[in-house]
Amino acid sequence: MSTEHFELLPNAAPTATNIREDILASPGFGQYFTDHMAHVRWTLDGDWHGHSVRPYGPLTLDPAAAVLHYAQEIFEGIKAYRHADGSIWTFRPEKNAERFRRSARRLALPELSDADFIGSLKALLSQDHAWVPTPQGEADECSLYLRPFMIASETFLGVRPAQEVDYYVIASPAAAYFKGGIEPVSIWLSEHYKRAAPGGTGFAKCGGNYAASLAAQKEASANGCGQVAFLDAVENQWIEELGGMNLFFVYQDGRIATPRLTDTILEGITRDSVLTLARDEGLTPEERPISIAEWREGAANGEITEVFACGTAAVITPVGELVSDQERIRLAGDNGNPIAKRLRTKLLDLQYGRAEDTHGWLTRLV
Ligand SMILES: Cc1ncc(COP(=O)(O)O)c(C=O)c1O
Repeated sequence: MSTEHFELLPNAAPTATNIREDILASPGFGQYFTDHMAHVRWTLDGDWHGHSVRPYGPLTLDPAAAVLHYAQEIFEGIKAYRHADGSIWTFRPEKNAERFRRSARRLALPELSDADFIGSLKALLSQDHAWVPTPQGEADECSLYLRPFMIASETFLGVRPAQEVDYYVIASPAAAYFKGGIEPVSIWLSEHYKRAAPGGTGFAKCGGNYAASLAAQKEASANGCGQVAFLDAVENQWIEELGGMNLFFVYQDGRIATPRLTDTILEGITRDSVLTLARDEGLTPEERPISIAEWREGAANGEITEVFACGTAAVITPVGELVSDQERIRLAGDNGNPIAKRLRTKLLDLQYGRAEDTHGWLTRLV
């Protein structure tokens, strides 16, 4: 997967080194962007063409561009990690490429090949590698967050799949997602709002899913919670996932369960990796329906010993309590979340090149 098919149009006024270094010392999340972006254009009669890496900057869109009206848009989230020898790697990008194609099919957008998806990350990093922060010790979970996205850019107000589409990758240096690190977080249970329904777009990573989750997120914030847990839209009893993370439950007897995939759940790459790492650790992974009653009862009787959320941005984060208007579900005992911490360390050690990549999950970008 070469980067040669991306033409380089260099930024004539890149960020000054001292300013970039100040940003990298305290990047926050999603606030600062690198000097370039990757771009590929698709037209109905021209397929994918015009591959470039060009200066980061505002897009020019006609006010009638389809994405602004009908939300025909998809995106991905993936990180670049700097290893101790200075090399830069990413984690299972072929899984993101595959999910991006799945999302594209659901949103009636054109599919992008692995070569273009992974090639675009490599091409962007070939220019902006200085923006990948260097971890200051093992507790420093800094990275460069990469955001590939695809939009319906055709100027047309008819409701039909766009015939002109643009794909971009932008990049933003990132510190740890939750400021508390691995402090357990409180999750809000949305009793009214649903994230996804059967036959809908829940399994796709499209902007509309996140727009639909914001009212619930607002409710969560008002109640002191950082994330929302959603139940299924049909029976209102099956746990699906959080607004931006998948959920796992650890049991006293060594089982570790996560809701089975349906078309209302986003198939997380961290989720898939945790299932494999859990098996490596001698745990028994299960993918099956998990009800809110099981969470309530298992938390009360001690059968569930840990709950954690996982995703690219937050890695693995213990869930301390589930809060709703009716109740607070807390685990009977506080055992310090040893399994979540162990899996988290294993995953981070792999991503930062501190452990042998036995599963072949790393791809070198630079
Ligand atoms: C709704 C949702 N679920 C789960 C995840 C976790 O997916 P991944 O582990 O691939 O980041 C994300 C984040 O991408 C998400 O937005």
